[in-house]
Amino acid sequence: MNARVVCITGASSGIGEAIARTYAQQGFHLILGARRIAKLDALKVVLMNLGAASVEALELDVRSHESVKSWQTAAFKRHPKIDILVNNAGLVLGNDPVEKGSVEDWTTIFDTNVLGVLRLCREFIPCFRRQSKGHIVMIGSISGHQVYEGGGPYCASKFSVKALAQTLRLELNGTPIRVSSIDPGMVETEFSIVRFRGDQERAQKVYQGLTPLSPDDVAECVAFATSRPAHVNIDDIIVMPTDQASVYKVNRLPEEPAPFL
Ligand SMILES: NC(=O)c1ccc[n+]([C@@H]2O[C@H](COP(=O)([O-])OP(=O)(O)OC[C@H]3O[C@@H](n4cnc5c(N)ncnc54)[C@H](OP(=O)(O)O)[C@@H]3O)[C@@H](O)[C@H]2O)c1
Repeated sequence: MNARVVCITGASSGIGEAIARTYAQQGFHLILGARRIAKLDALKVVLMNLGAASVEALELDVRSHESVKSWQTAAFKRHPKIDILVNNAGLVLGNDPVEKGSVEDWTTIFDTNVLGVLRLCREFIPCFRRQSKGHIVMIGSISGHQVYEGGGPYCASKFSVKALAQTLRLELNGTPIRVSSIDPGMVETEFSIVRFRGDQERAQKVYQGLTPLSPDDVAECVAFATSRPAHVNIDDIIVMPTDQASVYKVNRLPEEPAPFL
């Protein structure tokens, strides 16, 4: 049987990188996209060693329509048929309440998390229709189901991703194209480092005293959703750490008391 082909956005770290490793182990052809091409190039070697059929590392900025278009064109030039598109690239910046928020940050969040997904879907769907197959996976979030103070723009962007997945299921009903959303709670990645603009200490505090999901936990859900028979569509998987019951309710071990010196 011919190896299947998957395109993954935001594959240079965290969840996207783990998804790439998981599909590599299953012998897929991989098309990776992100802005940090050096990280993708380094990952390429690892993925080939894990068993990928082939790996293409191509620069992609989901905020640019031209970049999305050339990434999609390059992907379909390399493989006439593509099985899966994983819309994973995303970010959050800051955690200010709305009244103190930065319009520039909101623009980046929406341009990446919402318009980025729209751009990718716009380019891939006509090809998926022509080839009479295709699976679109959104990496949503628990923040697309629940809100928290300081999370306004990010939650609004992930509620939008959920709305897009639901809309696509309606628009693509009657075709073999499937749309799934994988919506995790806390996952330890570079996500909080990006949110706090490189402040590692602040980012680490987010996960302190609890066991968050690993990027591999999320990748397993993506692999499950995309390995069902053609007549089965996994609409949504919400996957949370056992220590997290909601965006607000987490079970944290108390901080270690300072040792007597
Ligand atoms: N970590 C969590 O707790 C969590 C929970 C729920 C959902 N999520 C979602 O999971 C997805 C992946 O996040 P992560 O946790 O793995 O964070 P991460 O480690 O910071 O990875 C984010 C990825 O997105 C890429 N990216 C950002 N802006 C991009 C752009 N303009 N064009 C192309 N790629 C871009 C980054 O690559 P470059 O910087 O190289 O471009 C990177 O590969 C996001 O959609 C996030 O919202 C995360």
